[in-house]
Amino acid sequence: NKVVLAYSGGLDTSVILKWLEETYQCEVVTFTADLGQGDELEPARVKAQKMGVRDIFIEDLREEFIRDYVFPMFRANAIYEGEYLLGTSIARPLIAKRLIEIANETGADAIAHGATGKGNDQVRFELGAYALKPGIQVIAPWREWDLTSRETLMAYAKKHDIPVDFAAAGKKSPYSMDANLLHISYEGGNLEDPWWEPEESMWRWSVSPQAAPEQGEEFTLTFVKGDPVAINGEMLSPATLWAKLNQMGGAHGVGRLDLVENRYVGMKSRGCYETPGGTIVLKAHRALESITLDRGVAHLKDELMPRYAEMIYNGYWWSPERLMLQTAIDASQAYVNGDVRLRLYKGNVQVIGRRSDDTLFDPTIATFEDDAGAYDQRDAAGFIKLNALRMRIAAKAGRVL
Ligand code: ARG
Ligand code: SIN
Repeated sequence: NKVVLAYSGGLDTSVILKWLEETYQCEVVTFTADLGQGDELEPARVKAQKMGVRDIFIEDLREEFIRDYVFPMFRANAIYEGEYLLGTSIARPLIAKRLIEIANETGADAIAHGATGKGNDQVRFELGAYALKPGIQVIAPWREWDLTSRETLMAYAKKHDIPVDFAAAGKKSPYSMDANLLHISYEGGNLEDPWWEPEESMWRWSVSPQAAPEQGEEFTLTFVKGDPVAINGEMLSPATLWAKLNQMGGAHGVGRLDLVENRYVGMKSRGCYETPGGTIVLKAHRALESITLDRGVAHLKDELMPRYAEMIYNGYWWSPERLMLQTAIDASQAYVNGDVRLRLYKGNVQVIGRRSDDTLFDPTIATFEDDAGAYDQRDAAGFIKLNALRMRIAAKAGRVL
């Protein structure tokens, strides 16, 4: 039997690789993806080769990640618990999908991942895997083994000749981190005290707003059908555009977040996030929707959004209800075309202009000057009176509630 392992090349998943072979007497196929986390992938290949892996899958999924996962999610303006832009949550369904596809290609009957038994990621990987291949077997070593401390893990690595980069292990970050093109996250360590403020050096993608340049930066972001396609008129591929926005936002201290969130498994957890590009796109997208969407459509989208965000956070990307909502959200974006002018300034994203050939903004109606007859101010008196009717009846009856 064969197992496809989501392999980062780090110590944890290298130990998992060996542990799977030992415990299940299986052949391990490794899968390592570039989602824009910024790590070299070749070391993961070398390490897997050294450990005797025959089938090594290493893939650049950056464009697919932004185009088919991040873009659809941002069409919905998705935010979890009012703050979190779902940077880790949205990457898991893509990894789950590739794990299953590779299992099909290589004839494997199981997949394995390095997520713990206390978090959201295990749920996301596994719900995705079961949705895409009902008969798949899932192995989550963290829920099974007794290598629960750094020391036992290191000892296991030593005993089994697992190549450990001791230099890297020595200067390892005190935080549990996850990065891709959308965000970088930090959890654990001192962050487990919600009152404690992380040291400035924790943040890797952005300068602090205080240290950001006084001049700020202005630019134009162009959207087609709700997706950002160009910066200052220059058309860019999804991943290229997102990386550029990350770099621009990071330089101005945009997109930092310090949050206590509710995990799907029930506990509260404190996390810090840097999402510079996502913070810019969300603000700009809403600005463009403000002139291109009908009010009824816009408000209904906003009502559905928390449900949609929760589906993604909880791992239901491949569920029928997410797909149903996505169809509605995508349909709403047909007219979300145009430009947004933005200014980045000391941690802020300011909208300073928006325009669209599909705008519903009608200055001849909105103006306080004399208008062309589309709106008769005398109509407003009846509009208000009928809306007041039930309140007048209640007041006459002496009702307070
Ligand atoms: N709390 C965030 C989420 O659930 C981030 C999880 C980070 N995952 C990780 N393996 N470090 O989406
Ligand atoms: C983990 O538990 O593996 C990371 C945190 C999470 O999934 O929420």
